[in-house]
Amino acid sequence: MIIKKEELGEVLPSIQEEILNANGNVVALTGAGISKASGIPTFRGPEGKFKGKDSTELANPYTFSQNPKLVWEWYKYRMEIIHKAKPNPAHLALAELENKGLLNAVITQNVDGLHQKAGNKNVIEIHGSIWRMKCVNCDYKTQINEPISKIPPRCPNCNNILRPDVVWYGEVLPEEAIKKSHELIRNAKVLIVVGTSGLVMPAARFPGIAAAFGATVIDINPIITPVSEIAKWAILEKAEEILPLIVSSLNKT
Ligand code: OAD
Repeated sequence: MIIKKEELGEVLPSIQEEILNANGNVVALTGAGISKASGIPTFRGPEGKFKGKDSTELANPYTFSQNPKLVWEWYKYRMEIIHKAKPNPAHLALAELENKGLLNAVITQNVDGLHQKAGNKNVIEIHGSIWRMKCVNCDYKTQINEPISKIPPRCPNCNNILRPDVVWYGEVLPEEAIKKSHELIRNAKVLIVVGTSGLVMPAARFPGIAAAFGATVIDINPIITPVSEIAKWAILEKAEEILPLIVSSLNKT
């Protein structure tokens, strides 16, 4: 059911009831839209472009093998934005939900670390983290706290190029994170999907799997996406406006 802002008041009590009845077994699946209000550009459309290239071309092992400098320029640009970014009311509402014992986990496609910054403890990063790098040649991995200055960075062990420790198109996702995500998705009573286009696998499949296993799916996204059809409630609004409303209404009971 598609819900607009003016209709939200009618369904809010039912959403609240479903979340409370789930006894803590609520999972959130998040995408780039949740971080938009923190100033981080999403991936599709004009805002996702960098030097005329689509994110699908940039988050891509082939492009990296041909032009590592270009891909690193894009990641450096995103690192600089993310470094300055703060969690917005949508991130904070999910942290509050976990604090109250009502949210089991956040499965995120985002690599920005803002859920952890907001205070969520159980965060599963299925696309890796922009704050880690790994060598394309040896086992070297490293954690960073600030945007890198020199690109492309080099491995201190073998002098080969380092790459961001994120998942690119066509690459295998971190096994443990995917295993955990499937477990959470299959067992969730409520799945809150926030700010994802629902186009990138395997996360795009999660709402359908959750619904098939009996979960109530709630989607929060200003536009209609493939998730809207699966959702019991598809709220066509911004996450930073809706999530705090849901959480504060939970406070009232
Ligand atoms: P997208 O950029 O594809 O989609 C962002 C979604 O957020 C869109 O559906 C927007 O309508 C929605 N949105 C925008 N503003 C919003 C707001 N304020 N509140 C709620 N929703 C909002 O991002 P993802 O679906 O996360 O992967 O993309 C999935 C993956 O594709 C990314 O993790 C990235 C990308 O390529 C890699 O880099 C591997």
